[in-house]
Order: sequence, then structure tokens, then C-alpha cells
Amino acid sequence: IGKNLVFMPECHSTNTHALQLCQESSTPEGTLVITDNQTAGRGQMGNTWEAHAGQNLTFSFILKPTFLRPHEQYSLNMAISLGLYDFLSAFLQQPVHIKWPNDLLADDRKVCGILIENSIQGSTLAHAVVGIGLNVNQATFGSPRAGSLRTVGGQSHALQEVLDVLLVALEQRYLSLRQGKTVQLKQEYEQVLFGLNELRPFKAAGEEFEGKVKGIDEAGRLLLETIEGMKVFALKEIEFIY
Ligand code: BTN
Repeated sequence: IGKNLVFMPECHSTNTHALQLCQESSTPEGTLVITDNQTAGRGQMGNTWEAHAGQNLTFSFILKPTFLRPHEQYSLNMAISLGLYDFLSAFLQQPVHIKWPNDLLADDRKVCGILIENSIQGSTLAHAVVGIGLNVNQATFGSPRAGSLRTVGGQSHALQEVLDVLLVALEQRYLSLRQGKTVQLKQEYEQVLFGLNELRPFKAAGEEFEGKVKGIDEAGRLLLETIEGMKVFALKEIEFIY
């Protein structure tokens, strides 16, 4: 990942740019698009992603996970989340959690978001654009739930050095996925889920209730133990209240 690198001083959204590059058959797997100033960053569920120019990492890379069937899409999400988890926990030496479906929390603050956009052709994943926003040196945030490597770890870092270490961690997890180690990835992913086995408030279909995160099912849906028994929630069906 990153051997073929496209750097842009400014860009609307590296995910959008990478999606365009996917249309060219000559674009190799691992191509990475990175910018210092993303002006229209996109987040999960139609949200925007704000990052102060020059202080954070905003990049996207292209994978060709043709070994995955469309119903296995979530395993790519797990591999990428775990790569970020590996990197953050080694780098910060502090507790890190994956908040389902794919936020990375350090010290309970979101330091990193992931936006994966897949394109399915027939019965395989032809390509996936993996977009990552990692807050590195930004010192102030509008929300107390957001942070950066600097606010959590207390130090600033050269963006290039952070990127180099992070890409190695992401590639290792992607290679495990390619080798078919999905069961192992799922076990590891579940162990580091935010709220695992803790009674916490949630909101679904306009109602608040308490539940314990127990893991995910094969499709990547969240399993919650509630007083009414085990419940399964798909993306967008449930929010954590925290
Ligand atoms: C989220 O938490 O909602 C996901 C945020 C993903 C942001 C990254 S920044 C690089 C890439 N380009 C985008 O437009 N979005 C992703």
C-alpha cells in the first residue's frame, strides 16, 4: 500500500478522487491518494469529515479484494479497523477500542474514522476505496469526544513517519484477510470492541434502552444482549449513547 502515491496539496475528498482512479484499469492495487488540505471530506452516513489543514492525515487507498464475495464485505472493514487498532495501541501505549462499526477510540475519544466504499461486479468485490482520517497534531476539537494523537498522547509527530508505520500495520492485516484468516480476525475484532460486556445505553428506532455488546454476526451486524434477549442491529439501525 502506498508504493504508487498521488499527492495533492488540496483536494475535495481523497475518497472521491480514488473512486475516479478506480475507473482506470491501469491503476494498481495499493494506489494511495493523500492531501494536506481536504476541503469536502466525507464521513459515514452522509456526514462530513473536518480536519485542520496540514495537521492530520487524510488519505484513501485502492484495494482489489476480488477474493471476497459481496456478503463478506464486512471482513474488509474488520481488517482495516484492526490495522488501525494495532497501530494506535502500539503508538500510544494506551487503551484503544473499536467503536462498532468503525470508529477508533483512544482514551474514549475518536481519533480516527474510516470510510470504505466498495464496488461490486458480479459476485466479487472488484475494488474498494479505503478512506482514513487520522487526527495527528490537531490540538483543539469542537467535541469532547474527539481527539488526536497529540491530545491523547501528549506529543506531536511528523505526518510522514506516522503514515509509514500505519501503512505497514494496515497491509499486515489486509494480507491476513487475503490468506483467509477471517475467523481469527473476527475474534480479535470482537475482543477490542468498545462497550464489550458492559451495560450501556443505546438508541434504536427512537427508543433508548440498555444492552451489552456481545460481538458481531457473520454480516458484521452488532449483537446486543438486552433484557428482552439477544438482538441484532444493522448499520444505521442503532447508535451508542455516550
Ligand atoms: C467517519 O468517521 O465518518 C469516516 C470519516 C472518513 C474520513 C476520511 S478522510 C480521507 C477520506 N476522504 C474522505 O472524503 N473521507 C475519508
